[in-house]
Amino acid sequence: MYKIIRKEDLSPVVKLLEVSAPLIADKAQPGQFVILRLDEEGERIPLTIADFDREKGTITVIFLEVGKTTTQLGKMVEGDKILNLIGPLGNPSEMEDFGTVVCIGGGVGVAPLYPIARALKESGNTVISIIGARCKDLLILEDEMREVSDELYITTDDGSVGHHGFVSDILKRLIEEGRIIDRVIAIGPLIMMKVVVGVTKPYDIKTIVSLNPIMVDGTGMCGSCRVIVGGEVRFACVDGPEFDGHLVDFDNLMKRNTRFLEEEAKSVEEYKRRCR
Ligand code: FAD
Ligand code: FES
Ligand code: MG
Repeated sequence: MYKIIRKEDLSPVVKLLEVSAPLIADKAQPGQFVILRLDEEGERIPLTIADFDREKGTITVIFLEVGKTTTQLGKMVEGDKILNLIGPLGNPSEMEDFGTVVCIGGGVGVAPLYPIARALKESGNTVISIIGARCKDLLILEDEMREVSDELYITTDDGSVGHHGFVSDILKRLIEEGRIIDRVIAIGPLIMMKVVVGVTKPYDIKTIVSLNPIMVDGTGMCGSCRVIVGGEVRFACVDGPEFDGHLVDFDNLMKRNTRFLEEEAKSVEEYKRRCR
């Protein structure tokens, strides 16, 4: 059992939990994730390790309440326990001094981006960050990202703070201004990553994306998380979750991620009925 030792509401629908998990904290690296199960009847869901503290023996997850399990997790409070937590899973982010790296995070994608941006800064890179959200209230980790970035740009879809538009607008502007960019890392909704990749491809700027297919076991056994990269089938849980964005078949992944929409809607309805 894994005890929640801190809970923060980053927005009405984005929650942060710091969980006691010394063995995972000891091994965690930026870019990796955990799979958790809340109780005996629970499903398994992956969440990125947004932070870790080896001395305290804790990991932090940040998540958006989108369906049954994330809503149930969002209702848990300090002192509550999560039944199963496995990790760290997936490959750590590639880390070296690349030069200038543009770190792009959309929505809750800023959570997994933060430890990567921090490690890139510590590795000697110039870090330019662009973080975006639908509106001001959904923007997370602005102060934390500012601290680890040489430059920080903010965008919102509705213009409530920062640039009125998309993260890709700022990236495009930086490229058109002639800024030398050695690498881009983009984490967020699939459509955002697809657009970012479309911006960098003509300039041949290496672009890493973190993929979020539906995962079950997280160890390469079930095949649920298969994605097509460079025309080949890869398993995001063991081969990823980060891939060369220029090679990813985003349309296939977008389609695969909607394959349980009916069941997910039923599950939320059932959960709400039981909570009444
Ligand atoms: P549901 O209503 O069951 O599903 C809503 C949508 O979430 C689905 O349509 C589907 O696209 C996706 N989803 C559902 N089940 C899964 C599953 N088992 N695996 C992956 N996606 C699923 N979200 C965060 O908010 N923060 C994170 O740090 C984060 N990290 C992730 C890291 C990885 C490697 C992956 C693959 C996904 C990550 N996600 C993260 C997405 C998160 O796992 C889903 O939002 C969550 O599983 C939804 O569960 P639900 O029951 O609340 O919603
Ligand atoms: Fe089962 Fe990746 S989640 S193979
Ligand atoms: Mg679910």
